[in-house]
Amino acid sequence: MKTLGSSKVFFLVLALAIRSCSSEGFLTWNVQIVNGLSGGNTLFLHCKSEDNDLGIHNLAVGAKFSWDFTPNVWGTTLYWCYLRNNEEHKWFDAFLSQSDDGYNGFARSCNYKTCTWIARDDGIYLRNIPNKSDDFVHKWEPGQ
Ligand SMILES: *[C@@H]1O[C@H](CO)[C@@H](O)[C@H](O)[C@H]1NC(C)=O
Repeated sequence: MKTLGSSKVFFLVLALAIRSCSSEGFLTWNVQIVNGLSGGNTLFLHCKSEDNDLGIHNLAVGAKFSWDFTPNVWGTTLYWCYLRNNEEHKWFDAFLSQSDDGYNGFARSCNYKTCTWIARDDGIYLRNIPNKSDDFVHKWEPGQ
């Protein structure tokens, strides 16, 4: 019978222990940005993380931009987005690891899987999947 070296077993156990401490675990998350503006307004967006620039996108009304990722085991994954409508803008955290109880019920709203941010005329909403609602989170800020 083949056996694993004890150092391999040690690192495997360590890796699993770290994973199980994080609510994100091995799961893949999906973040979506939706243009819910009225009046045919284009939504300009630019999202990125520390090592991943998702580029600049212009969304027509009703269109959606989305991406998948697996949060790192350290719980430091952060994606932030810059959104802009005609006259206003907002920078915000579109995904923040270990945000379970800290960030506006963020992870629970996303059902630990899908965070849908909707840009509307009065601000940016986060879809609350368990409660079947869209919750107002951020006001637009004037200017660009
Ligand atoms: C859903 O709504 C209830 C009642 O308002 C609230 O207590 C709960 O925290 C909400 N759940 C989420 C995920 O926001």
